[in-house]
Amino acid sequence: MPGTLPVIGDVWPLLRDPIGFLADLPRHGDLARLRLGPMSVSVVCTPDLAQQVLRDDRTFDKGGPFFDRMRDLLGEAVATCPHSRHRRLRRLVQPAFRDEQLRRYRPVMRAEAERLTDSWSDGQRIDVMAATMAYTTRVALRTLFSVSLTEERLTAAVSDIETWVAGVPLQMLLPPGAGRLPLPANRHYRDAIAGLRATIASAVEERRGRPLDAEEPDLLASMIITQDSADRSGRLSDTELIDHAATFLAAGTETSATALAWMFHLLALHPQVQCDLRTELAGQERRAADRPGHDDGSLCHRVVLEALRLHAPAWLLTRTVTEHTILDGIPFEEGAVVAYSPYPLHRDAAYFPDPRAFRPDRWTDRTPEPGTFLTFGGGPRSCVGHRFAMLELTAALRAVVAAWELQPLDAGPPRPRLGATLAPRGLRLRVRAHT
Ligand code: HEM
Repeated sequence: MPGTLPVIGDVWPLLRDPIGFLADLPRHGDLARLRLGPMSVSVVCTPDLAQQVLRDDRTFDKGGPFFDRMRDLLGEAVATCPHSRHRRLRRLVQPAFRDEQLRRYRPVMRAEAERLTDSWSDGQRIDVMAATMAYTTRVALRTLFSVSLTEERLTAAVSDIETWVAGVPLQMLLPPGAGRLPLPANRHYRDAIAGLRATIASAVEERRGRPLDAEEPDLLASMIITQDSADRSGRLSDTELIDHAATFLAAGTETSATALAWMFHLLALHPQVQCDLRTELAGQERRAADRPGHDDGSLCHRVVLEALRLHAPAWLLTRTVTEHTILDGIPFEEGAVVAYSPYPLHRDAAYFPDPRAFRPDRWTDRTPEPGTFLTFGGGPRSCVGHRFAMLELTAALRAVVAAWELQPLDAGPPRPRLGATLAPRGLRLRVRAHT
């Protein structure tokens, strides 16, 4: 690692104020070097450098401590595999996210959003992350896996995902080998991984027992069909199948639940935006957009984008350098760890004026400059579930504001909890029936 970069920070300031710490990184240069426990990470802080890293996924391959921990649960599936295996796996899962599939998922998302809000009563205090996790997990299991949802399966999946997500930062920061020591934190982490894989194995088993509709297969069915196909080049082993299914459950539940929770928090602080959303909903003949998850010019879409800008769930995504390269004029050798984070860019006034303010209208007729909006990553490894997530978030937003008014309960903003995502710790809100 070159010695020319300022060495800043350590674990403590990151734990104390993760958002402030990450947003402040550009003050230390376009490429800020962090020392986090045993590792040294260089974080790109300009749109150009972010694009250089994200577009060249051969030189900046999946790796580094974040993805090492992801592999504990997910093996080498589409989100965690090296560049050499990625294109084949991405092609395999991509059909589950096409427009026609998203149109099929939409009624399920609406029904689940209504189910969530129908369970509330006037004046109730809501544990927001618990509510949003139940919603996104139900949606993922019903749309992508089409499996039956017993309360037992749901509770087990939510609890295991939460334990795993909460354990990731500690596992990232432990010195090599320490994750295998017989400590309670390590045991909880390993048990959660085993539990989640067992839940998924039972879902796979159940799905195999039902007809696999080859015309419109869900994600799990298309993977099973590939597994069973005569074309052995695309064949997946049982372990790979579980790795992929676990990837979608892990990548697609806590991320969306975190985004929703922050969005509800922001709305509770902005009652006028809730009113404007209600006016928009009342005025609109609920016409489903032709291209699900794309910008339909609505305030609803802008609110979701603005919440995703201020509170991007994925906060630090690492890469391993695979061969000698130059980044920002500085040489990097094989094995060096580089990372990107949405926060240094999303909270920079140069790209988003008045960056700390919640202003959904900043998105009116605006596409962000390349490399400035990184909530869903970028380049060949960008989020394959991006539009699925947009659809899921707007469905929940519409169902909530149509029937309820969100009110803050606690003084001051919630503190972010540093896990695999930055979720609002202990966030509670009051819901008032909207008449
Ligand atoms: C608000 C919700 C979401 C956020 C913020 C989010 C964020 C991200 C980010 C930042 C990446 C790129 C990671 C990197 O560069 O290393 C990513 C990749 C991925 N996401 Fe999402 N995601 C969300 C929802 C979803 C959903 C709903 C699914 C699936 C149903 C999903 C599946 C994936 C997969 C499979 C990848 C790996 C793609 C690849 O490497 O080809 N995500 N996500």
